[in-house]
Amino acid sequence: MVKIMVEQEQFLGESPEFTAVLRAAALVAPTDATVLVSGESGTGKELLSRYIHRNSRRNREPWVTINCAALPESLAESELFGHAKGAFTGAAINKKGWVQVADGGTLFLDEISELPLSIQAKLLRLLESGDCQGVGHSRITRVNVRVIAATNKNLFDLAKKGLFREDLFYRLNIVPLELPPLRERLDDLSLLMQSFLTAVANKNSFSPAYFPKSTMAVLNRYSWPGNIRELRNFCERVGILHAGSEIEVANLPWEMQQDNSGGALDTIGGMFTLPNEGLDFLQMERDLIGQALQRTNGNKSRAARLLGFSRDTFLYRIKKFSILT
Ligand SMILES: Nc1ncnc2c1ncn2[C@@H]1O[C@H](COP(=O)(O)OP(=O)(O)O)[C@@H](O)[C@H]1O
Ligand SMILES: [Mg+2]
Repeated sequence: MVKIMVEQEQFLGESPEFTAVLRAAALVAPTDATVLVSGESGTGKELLSRYIHRNSRRNREPWVTINCAALPESLAESELFGHAKGAFTGAAINKKGWVQVADGGTLFLDEISELPLSIQAKLLRLLESGDCQGVGHSRITRVNVRVIAATNKNLFDLAKKGLFREDLFYRLNIVPLELPPLRERLDDLSLLMQSFLTAVANKNSFSPAYFPKSTMAVLNRYSWPGNIRELRNFCERVGILHAGSEIEVANLPWEMQQDNSGGALDTIGGMFTLPNEGLDFLQMERDLIGQALQRTNGNKSRAARLLGFSRDTFLYRIKKFSILT
């Protein structure tokens, strides 16, 4: 198991999908290389980026976070690169931009896909030479910043469609790190849950809530669109509302129960109910095996676990149905 402290927070995981990313991050951290962290919302992009900064030579220097989606286009350039007194109406004094504030340290550009195209050229120049020119300044100054960018979009696709500068994409993509969605690292689910539940219990002097197998089975099948952020909020909620007690399937929010009742199957208290019209058992087994393989990207051990089979039983069944993987 990997358990690392990033400032006050734990960074946890033991699935190969997660530890591989962490290993790469540890290798790149002490260098000055630009890093592009991608992954769905809530997968830990910001935490990973802070981990990289904390483990770099710049760890005593500034860490500056910019959410590009929150930068109004009209102000983005002066916010980032600063402006000279009188450069535009309201520019009463010379002002530093965030890039200058980050000098010597790390600039974290979150949601980089939202950076206005007009600013992207300036960012490219900064990355290539450290050159930085504030709005209304005639002089170019040089800064020493390391850039870590994060995105939940596919920048390559955006670049192909002309919605993101291709040259900037290649410059950012020097070291790409991709955090897997939680549904593809379900091996970490109970570890993360335990950590979040213990934290909320300790903070409030409650006993932690606990989860029987039937409930865990539902959580393992849920797609977790909000990833670790959603899991963390969920654990806080049940940890408070159901402190010290068992969480039954019926206590779960409807979207989690919903997600689980795919197709003809209804669940009551975590058990399957035979539909009135009956079902084709072999077809169902074949379908479920196919789905399990799809959900785990063909990882047979994890697919077996999702269905409660041993690996051997699972392999036997795959053969029986001649499902080729
Ligand atoms: N591996 C992990 N272990 C423990 N907590 C995590 C882990 N990854 C993410 N988190 C937590 O999940 C939440 C979302 O992480 P964040 O880095 O903000 O995600 P993103 O930037 O991808 O949206 C944060 O509260 C963070 O502390
Ligand atoms: Mg984020």
